[in-house]
Amino acid sequence: MTSPSTRPPSRPLPKTFSVKSFGCQMNAYDGARMAELLEEQGLVAVETDEADLVLLNTCHIREKAAEKVYSDIGRLTKTAQGKGRAKPMIAVAGCVAQAEGAEIPRRAPAVDLVVGPQAYHRLPDLIAEAASGKKALDTDMPAASKFDALPKRRRQGPGAFLTVQEGCDKFCTYCVVPYTRGAEISRPWGQVVDEAKALVDAGAREITLLGQNVNAWTHEGRGLHDLIEELARLPRLARIRYTTSHPNDMADGLIAAHRDIDKLMPFLHLPVQAGSDRILKAMNRSHDVASYLKLIDRVRAVRPDIAISGDFIVGFPGETDAEFEETLSAVRAIGHAQAFSFKYSPRPGTPAATMGDAVPAAVMDERLQRLQALIAEQQYAFNRATLGKTCAVLIERDGKLPGQRLGKSPWLQSVLIDGGAIGDLVDVTITQAGPNSLQGEAKVLAAA
Ligand code: SAH
Ligand code: SF4
Ligand code: F3S
Repeated sequence: MTSPSTRPPSRPLPKTFSVKSFGCQMNAYDGARMAELLEEQGLVAVETDEADLVLLNTCHIREKAAEKVYSDIGRLTKTAQGKGRAKPMIAVAGCVAQAEGAEIPRRAPAVDLVVGPQAYHRLPDLIAEAASGKKALDTDMPAASKFDALPKRRRQGPGAFLTVQEGCDKFCTYCVVPYTRGAEISRPWGQVVDEAKALVDAGAREITLLGQNVNAWTHEGRGLHDLIEELARLPRLARIRYTTSHPNDMADGLIAAHRDIDKLMPFLHLPVQAGSDRILKAMNRSHDVASYLKLIDRVRAVRPDIAISGDFIVGFPGETDAEFEETLSAVRAIGHAQAFSFKYSPRPGTPAATMGDAVPAAVMDERLQRLQALIAEQQYAFNRATLGKTCAVLIERDGKLPGQRLGKSPWLQSVLIDGGAIGDLVDVTITQAGPNSLQGEAKVLAAA
C-alpha cells in the first residue's frame, strides 16, 4: 500500500481545454481533430488563460518555431500564478513532441504530457495518466491508423482541411519532417471519401486536401486527380484545393485536372526552394530549375490563370551571392501570386546541419529582404491584375467593420465585401487591389 506521503500528487481531470496550433496546415488539421476528440470526452473549449488543459500543438521546422514552445510554457505558468489559479495541465503535441519527447518535461518540468502526431488518438488515456501525477508520454508511430480511433468530423466553417497523406520519404537535407512525421503514408480511398462527406455534412463548402507531398497520394493504383474527381461529385462541395506538392510528383492526370475539374481551384503551391542547380542538389531536391520551369509551363498551358505559390530557403550552407541571384532569376521567371521564404535554419539530426560553410546571418538577412521584396512586388501585380474582374468568392468570416465579410477568391486572395452570409459563394467584382487583399462588390447572392 502506498502511504499518503509517497503517493504522487494527483489532480482532478480537466473539464476545459484550449488547443493552440503552430506550423503547417497539417498541424492545424491535427489540432482540430484533437479538439473534436476532447469535446467528445466532454471537455469544453475555452480561452487559453481559462483552460484546465492547454495543448500546445508545436512545429519543429525552424529553430524559432521549436523554441517558441518553451516561452509559451513559461508564460502559461506565469499567467496562472498571476491570476492565483492552479497551473493548467500542459500538454505538448506536434512535431517538437515527436522530435524531443521525454527531453521536454526534463527541460520544462511544468509539462505534464507529451504526445506525437501519430499518437494523439490516445489523448484521453494520457490525460488520465497525467492527472494521476505521472508524466505521460507517447511518441509511438503505431502501424494501426489513429484515424480509426478518432470521432467523426463535426461543426465546420466553410473551409475545411483534410489530411490525406502523412509523412515524407523525400529527405531534403535541411528538413525535419521525415523524422517528425515518419514515412510517407496515403490514407485509403474510402476513408478519405467518407471523411470528406462528413465534412460537407458538417457545413464545409471547400476542402483542402493536405499532405507534405499531397500530390504523391495514391491508393490501389489511383492518384490524387482520381480522388479530386470523386470529391467533385459531392453536390454541396463547391471547391477543392490541395497542398503541399512536390515537383517530382506532379502527374499528368493532376495537371489535366486543372483543366477538366471546375471545382478544383486555380491555385498551385509547388515549392522549388532555390534557383541554383548546385544548391538544389545539395538540398537533395531531385529536380533542377529547368525541369521546374517546364512543369510550370505545362500547368499554365492547361490553366493559364493559375496562381503559383511556393517556398524558398535563402542561405543554405555554401550558397554564394551568384547562387542567390539565380534564385531571384527563378522567381522572375516563375511569376508568383504569393510565396513564402525563410532563412535557412540548421536542424538537429538533418544532414545539412553538419555541412559547415554557414552563410553569415547578415548576408542571410539581406538575401531574405531582397527575395521578399521581389515576391511582394509579384503578389501586388497579381492582385492588381484582378481589378475589374468578376470572380466567385467563398465567404469565410466577418470582416472588421460592421456588415463586412471576408472571403477567398479562386486564387486564394482575401476579398472584403459588404454583406452576404458566411458559407455563401458570391460573384464579386473586384474594385480595389492592395498588396495583401482585395475589395469587391457582391453581385447576386447565390443560395448557400
Ligand atoms: N513538404 C513541403 C514543405 C514542408 S516545410 C515541401 O516539400 O514543399 C515548409 C517549408 O519550410 C519548406 O518548403 C521549406 O521552404 C521550409 N523549410 C523546411 N526546413 C527548413 C529549414 N531547416 N530552414 C528553413 N526553412 C525550412
Ligand atoms: Fe521536407 Fe523535403 Fe519532405 Fe518537403 S519534401 S517535407 S521539404 S523533406
Ligand atoms: Fe512544422 Fe511539423 Fe508541419 S515541423 S511544418 S508542424 S509537419
